[in-house]
Amino acid sequence: MSSYHLTTFGCQMNEHDSERMKGMLEALGYRESPQRDGADLILFNTCSIREKADTRLAGHLGEASRLKSEDPTRVVGVGGCWSQSMKERVFQEFPFVDVAFGPGQVHKLAEFLTSDSIGAQGYFEFEGFTGHLPARRERRFQGWVQISVGCNCVCSYCIVPSTRGREVSRPAAELVAEVERQAAEGVREVTLLGQNVNSWGRDLRTGEKATFAELLGMVDAVEGIERVRYTSPHPKDMREDVIRAHAELASLCEHIHLPLQAGSSRVLKAMKRTYDRERYLDRVAMIREMVPDCAISTDIIVGFPGETDAEFEETMEVVEQVRYDSAFTFNYSPRRGTAAAGLDGQVPHEAKRERMGRLVDAVQRISTERAQRFVGRSMDVLVEGPSRTDPSRLRGRIRHNKTVNFTGLARPGEIVDVEIAAATSTTLAGEEQLRVA
Ligand code: 5AD
Ligand code: SF4
Repeated sequence: MSSYHLTTFGCQMNEHDSERMKGMLEALGYRESPQRDGADLILFNTCSIREKADTRLAGHLGEASRLKSEDPTRVVGVGGCWSQSMKERVFQEFPFVDVAFGPGQVHKLAEFLTSDSIGAQGYFEFEGFTGHLPARRERRFQGWVQISVGCNCVCSYCIVPSTRGREVSRPAAELVAEVERQAAEGVREVTLLGQNVNSWGRDLRTGEKATFAELLGMVDAVEGIERVRYTSPHPKDMREDVIRAHAELASLCEHIHLPLQAGSSRVLKAMKRTYDRERYLDRVAMIREMVPDCAISTDIIVGFPGETDAEFEETMEVVEQVRYDSAFTFNYSPRRGTAAAGLDGQVPHEAKRERMGRLVDAVQRISTERAQRFVGRSMDVLVEGPSRTDPSRLRGRIRHNKTVNFTGLARPGEIVDVEIAAATSTTLAGEEQLRVA
């Protein structure tokens, strides 16, 4: 029996795609090798969102090259966004790669492995959902559901539209059937995945057309699914019906990830985000009004070309005003083929560093403060396993998406009450409330 080793980089969509890759390989009779150097097939599912992702990958590819020269019968495969973005050059620059494929061509890996082809092969069309392939889920009680692929936005900093193609939605009936299948296997929490989830459905045929809010209602109705999450939505497509769904649907979690990117309307326009600061803050006000306890998280880019000190201050103002439960902060990184990479006014490294330091301080202070509202409350926790820092304790997550470490007797997959005793910016600590029969 042949073995494979797969390393995954990047976002949740890549984690999903990797589960499908594993499912497909295992259906072909491959088994997973715990070590790269013990595998016949060395695979990477890559990301290219920022330069750092590329440099991290380079080290891994170096090792694959060495392993391949030790044993030339090994097969090296590279899938995902980096691979797609390098499609013209991957075989020239990395001659040890046997097969390269983009996110829309995962199924072609099977074709390659079962054919007699001896030369290197590249597959880069945008076709097919990885969601159609068999899955080997990494987490028993939590499942990913790919509701759409691709992205029709043209955010000027972002490489994704070129690596994942135009947006295509999967029909609701197919998605509901998949959620039902997962529920039957014991999944209690599903995360709907798309590059821009809340524009889901607009490209479907008449008769199949539905809105994202309607899809949320259909998934909520599936027996056995206790929690529904989704990522990522775009503020421009965040409609009242989706926010209202958070108040009305029992399983839809009190957490909304609403990527800000920048607090200045001038910068947002240069980013081609198609909303301004007022529209963004208006979405936040609507969330606060309809779902008062909702956790809000975000993504922010520091040092977009041309961002002035005063414009960065506007980002700081929005952060103070919204009071995020958590925020991912990124230094702007020019990406090949994107519009922003050619813009003048790249912000000097030192200014980026200074701005980032201030932003991170504010984000941490505010998320620590926000987390204190859970102290003293009893929260529903979906148990995921032992605590990462202390195996005698348990780890799980509340509906607001914060991790909780706690003492208790519960088993993974159970939803239990935990009384929260302490809170930091990232984690909560507490004790399971044992129900006396
Ligand atoms: N530079 C820095 N951050 C970026 N992101 C996307 N492209 C870039 C880039 N070129 C960030 C955005 C996005 C998150 C997934 O990554 O904030 O929401
Ligand atoms: Fe990376 Fe973006 Fe591709 Fe996800 S979609 S793997 S974050 S480049």
